[in-house]
Amino acid sequence: MRITANQIRGMKQKGEKIAMLTAYDYSTAKIVDGIGVPLILVGDSLGMVVLGYETPIPVTMEVMLHHTKAVVRGTKQAMIVGDMPFMTYHTSVDDALRNAARFIQEAGAQAIKLEGGVTVAEKVRRIVECGIPVMGHIGLTPQSINQFGGYRVQGRTPEAAVKMLKDAQALEEAGAFAVVLETVPTPLATLISQKISIPTIGIGAGVGCDGQVQVINDILGSYTDFVPKHAKQYAKLADIMSSAIAEYYNEVKAGTFPTEKQSFSMDESILAGLK
Ligand code: KIV
Repeated sequence: MRITANQIRGMKQKGEKIAMLTAYDYSTAKIVDGIGVPLILVGDSLGMVVLGYETPIPVTMEVMLHHTKAVVRGTKQAMIVGDMPFMTYHTSVDDALRNAARFIQEAGAQAIKLEGGVTVAEKVRRIVECGIPVMGHIGLTPQSINQFGGYRVQGRTPEAAVKMLKDAQALEEAGAFAVVLETVPTPLATLISQKISIPTIGIGAGVGCDGQVQVINDILGSYTDFVPKHAKQYAKLADIMSSAIAEYYNEVKAGTFPTEKQSFSMDESILAGLK
């Protein structure tokens, strides 16, 4: 049985910190699930760290469904959250509902995430009413990067701070089971976490959030374009991969790979019959 939205809500009530990570493929998701991470986000950040775009904006429903299916196949316990791509929930409540349903019905996810607060609350309410758990996402919302004009800390002015609190409350009121706070000053994220009953999942929002989410390539050090300030590199996979690939390359060139160990034999007499 997979982790449920109720269990995630319950973790906040019990004061248990919630760990969430992204994953985009079968093998990685299997490792993350094996550790017991309760929430796996198939984030549209895959547009950058897997597909090499500069922003998540080019990511489509078809791409998201393709990767979500792979993550679902690799996991048994975690709740899989599918990230609704740019413009798949903005045009109408019906479009939002139809696309949210595709994550559940076609890809096998258990929940969806979408960006925005007050402006998407009606869509969140309708999706939740139809039985799909929704995770909100406010603060620095990467799908609006062109409006923000860069990856800047959000909520630093009095108006922006009030708006962010209202957005969080609107998501709670609409029935979201959790909300991501991205690139938000620690004191504001802490206050929002205290003011709402649903878990806040921070990324660059400090330790006062109820949980944390990170892009797996950032914490493993496999995405080398840049390291966000909010990410801690627990490994330097790019370096490990480079030296392994270089060793393979050199061995192939030198004719020292493969050895007997990686090769297959056959009955010599059959070979002799071919000569
Ligand atoms: O797409 C993503 O990975 C995200 C997280 C950074 C929260 O939205």
